[in-house]
Amino acid sequence: MKFRLTLFTAVLAGMAGFGVAHAAGSASAGQSVYASQCALCHSNQPGGVGIGPSLADVYGKPAASQPNYDYSPAMKNAHLTWNDATLDKFLAAPQATVPGTKMPFAGLTDAGQRADVIAYLASIANK
Ligand code: HEC
Repeated sequence: MKFRLTLFTAVLAGMAGFGVAHAAGSASAGQSVYASQCALCHSNQPGGVGIGPSLADVYGKPAASQPNYDYSPAMKNAHLTWNDATLDKFLAAPQATVPGTKMPFAGLTDAGQRADVIAYLASIANK
């Protein structure tokens, strides 16, 4: 019984890891983080409107490149491309990473939540 339980756990862990190229984060956990922390301001639909730009296709793209969104000069001049490292830094401390950004969000202090929400953003992006 103990063996079967261990095997079951291992299979589950394998399934969770399958297809997720982002070592640390879980896209499904990230979807919950997104729903509670980001969805208020950000659509996850391509072209979706909100207080902030749609995040449907930011992963892998340069900052301030979503169409039909009026970015701050700070974001336009940030010269960042959104990947695991830049998103982690920005989401930990938006104002410090892009001084003058108009994203009114204090930051996600939990590194695990950042990794999860980044995995979620990667999973919905049209690469
Ligand atoms: C209270 C509203 C608000 C919340 C909450 C918020 N954001 Fe934002 N976000 C914005 C605004 C406004 C901008 C545009 C910033 C600018 O132009 O300086 C932005 C910009 C961004 C960008 C840059 C997009 C691009 O195209 O360059 C990313 C990435 C981002 N937010 C991710 C997140 C994530 C992930 C969360 C949740 C953890 C989150 N935001 C929570 C309002 C918000």
